[in-house]
Amino acid sequence: MRRKLVVGNWKMHGSLAANAPLLQALAAAKVDGADMAVCVPFPYLQQAQEALKGSPIAWGAQDMSAHGQGAYTGEVSASMLKDFGCRYVIVGHSERRSLHGETDDVVASKAVMAMLMDLQPVVCVGETLAERDAGQMKAVVIRQLDALIQGCGPERLAGVVLAYEPVWAIGTGRTASPAQAQEVHALLRARLAEVDANVAAGMQILYGGSVKAVNALELFAQPDIDGGLVGGASLVAEEFLAIGRAVSSS
Ligand code: PGA
Repeated sequence: MRRKLVVGNWKMHGSLAANAPLLQALAAAKVDGADMAVCVPFPYLQQAQEALKGSPIAWGAQDMSAHGQGAYTGEVSASMLKDFGCRYVIVGHSERRSLHGETDDVVASKAVMAMLMDLQPVVCVGETLAERDAGQMKAVVIRQLDALIQGCGPERLAGVVLAYEPVWAIGTGRTASPAQAQEVHALLRARLAEVDANVAAGMQILYGGSVKAVNALELFAQPDIDGGLVGGASLVAEEFLAIGRAVSSS
């Protein structure tokens, strides 16, 4: 039985002052059944660690370097994330892929480095609207997944959390329908099963793209959807916690 997981992605939002009540509300909340985490901007990792330590909510980062250490100005390493108690790190978000030119291979390298350092990478895959309209959805997500499988090797795959985030649904208010999302989740799981049936059966595959409390229950009730990667709605404590409760009851 796979545990459900809800991960918040704050993106480049927040301030010390604005984060404080949000983190306080999360730390005080009761979370039943689902695992929950927030991935915050690097400068706020210490604040998140202090606020959430001892609570059921974990924390993590939104990106990391593929390198261990060295002359990589501006980059943040996996071991630095470990210094701040991170459990998760988002890798290969579509905004990193499109705005920062991250290739499938770079994303796979980051995922491997995260696991070497005992972090759980949340690896994002997903097609753009143009790709979907051109009938390339399947080819794109399988290409992205195959690069991960090849980069990690079958033995490390079990340490990955996968997130399907159709780019056209991110921040647009246009959620994939539960059936559309389930179709892709099933496709990803079937591809994983060709590599290793146990890994496929155990892997948490999250859905991301305009997840809110009102649509979470229906999405998370799908057989291959194991929770959500939540952007905008993770910035409002009540909304984010309500999504966690939807997971618990689905
Ligand atoms: P959204 O973002 O929930 O605001 O659509 C999701 C994400 O980009 O991870």
